[in-house]
Amino acid sequence: MQKFVYLNYMSTTYAKVKTGIPGLDSIVSGGLKQGRSVVVSGPPGSGKTTMGLQFLYAGAKDFDEPGVYLSLAQNIDEIKSDSKSHGWDFDDLISKDKILMIDARPFKLTNDSIGKDDSLYRGEQIPFEHLTKLLLSSIKRVEAKRIVIDSITILEMQYSDEFNTRQGLQGLVQALESCGVSSLLLSETVNETQIPPEWFVSSGVIQLRHTRNQETMERSIQVTKLRGIRHSEQIHPIELDENGLKVMHPRLMP
Ligand SMILES: Nc1ncnc2c1ncn2[C@@H]1O[C@H](COP(=O)(O)OP(=O)(O)OP(=O)(O)O)[C@@H](O)[C@H]1O
Ligand SMILES: [Mg+2]
Repeated sequence: MQKFVYLNYMSTTYAKVKTGIPGLDSIVSGGLKQGRSVVVSGPPGSGKTTMGLQFLYAGAKDFDEPGVYLSLAQNIDEIKSDSKSHGWDFDDLISKDKILMIDARPFKLTNDSIGKDDSLYRGEQIPFEHLTKLLLSSIKRVEAKRIVIDSITILEMQYSDEFNTRQGLQGLVQALESCGVSSLLLSETVNETQIPPEWFVSSGVIQLRHTRNQETMERSIQVTKLRGIRHSEQIHPIELDENGLKVMHPRLMP
């Protein structure tokens, strides 16, 4: 049987970034480290996009930290419309230059054909250097302090060469960290035994999961790695509802 656990990870001094996810900061010593990149990894429907948007929305709305959302998966109208189901009005923040949402999907529908966007893509790939430049100019535009890339997996899929992918990722993370933005890199997990390169390159890894328990689906979160931060080593249940994500802290009696 598990012991009674007190969650006390609050006694540290570095600049902290409040995530805006209820219950998350208190299991990571009060917040993430400012200017670092953290991977949020999980299977489809585990809440990666929700967590990313909640991080940006809270940042811009409650902590005066503008943000950039780079989408490689869904179109921006869809993202904004889905966000409304959580009560998050991104249009308002976009109009106030507190949020910038960029559509960097590999394929775009133009008239009757579907093809790569020439302004972003060179041939088959969007070069990491090109993407980094785009992100840095976007950060400048809204004086962003937070960034979400949704998803880093789709970006990596364009490169067949492992060495170049890892180098490109390293450069991207280095560029983001050097300009002081705190970023969430959303990463699609298919198979937990195969560790993707962004887990090594980034400062932290947070895993989201949904597992079957009899007739229901249970959602959970695990802080797998956070360089320089004391964090919970438990797997915490999460709730995902109309308010977004919430981390629960079960206090289990002996
Ligand atoms: N308003 C809402 N109320 C309750 N649950 C919701 C609401 N909106 C979304 N969900 C839940 O969140 C899930 C989607 O979460 P999200 O899009 O963040 O997952 P994801 O990990 O980004 O998935 P993918 O890998 O497909 O992009 C839905 O499948 C649904 O279960
Ligand atoms: Mg998603």
